[in-house]
Amino acid sequence: MISDILNLLRCPVCKAEMERDGEGKTCRCRGARKHCFDFSRSGYLHLGGPHAGDGDGKEAVLARRAFLDAGHYQPLSDTVNRLLEQFAVRRVVDAGCGEGYYTNRMAEVADAVLGIDLSRAGIDYAARRAKQQQTRAGFAVASLFEMPIQSESVDAVVNLFAPCAEEEFLRVLKLDGILLLVGAGERHLMGLKQAIYQTPYANEGRADLPKGMELLEKKKLCYEISVEGREMIAALFSMTPYYWRTSEHDRAKLDLLERLTTEVDFDIFVFRKEREG
Ligand SMILES: C[S@@+](CC[C@H](N)C(=O)[O-])C[C@H]1O[C@@H](n2cnc3c(N)ncnc32)[C@H](O)[C@@H]1O
Repeated sequence: MISDILNLLRCPVCKAEMERDGEGKTCRCRGARKHCFDFSRSGYLHLGGPHAGDGDGKEAVLARRAFLDAGHYQPLSDTVNRLLEQFAVRRVVDAGCGEGYYTNRMAEVADAVLGIDLSRAGIDYAARRAKQQQTRAGFAVASLFEMPIQSESVDAVVNLFAPCAEEEFLRVLKLDGILLLVGAGERHLMGLKQAIYQTPYANEGRADLPKGMELLEKKKLCYEISVEGREMIAALFSMTPYYWRTSEHDRAKLDLLERLTTEVDFDIFVFRKEREG
């Protein structure tokens, strides 16, 4: 993990700053008790409390990785990177980064990129991806509701399809820092829904928009994707909330498809931390 990222961290126990220890295999806080955290073999840090590390399991993580690696959402990743460039973001946290597809690409445009997720399996793959692709992104297992990050230290928080912890995002953002939030737009995955449901409804759009921030930009990104093969279609399905609420009968309709064509529709919001008073 590069020193620019270590400089963003704070001890999850006593909130003191962190530093790498002499050997480089652990890092310690500068507090009186010198709390110590080991880097995993793949290079991430476990900085969460006892409940961190649950999150998405290995199977869900592998499915998301296979789907994202096929490039279906690369235009979204490119749009996120263009926005980071537009707002001259240097230090960024990807809150709820999953297996790090977007996070590692963010390292192409920002100096210090830290991915945080509750899922140990997700963070492990994210860190391995960083090693393979030799990116400068770093990763930590932690809750995005209690991030091991110093207050007012980052230029941007990115939050893609993950819970929105607005108070915590406000805390870590510098004054004038931005929150880049992405959620499913009205017609997101309509083709997938049409394949399984008799009366597919449009999405309502993201409701958990943050307080204490002003909206700078709202963009839409819509295009069509063709997903080839049952395995890839199943991978896409497992990434959606429908995976948990679809009957076995409806789900089995996907097994008959060799190709799925569907719209994707992303709502992209850029907020700026409001000045107090
Ligand atoms: C739908 S996935 C999106 C992952 C990634 N942003 C992407 O778009 O590929 C939601 C992610 O949020 C993570 N997550 C859920 N609750 C969390 C929490 N309290 N703290 C950190 N991560 C959380 C999950 O583990 C999962 O990786």
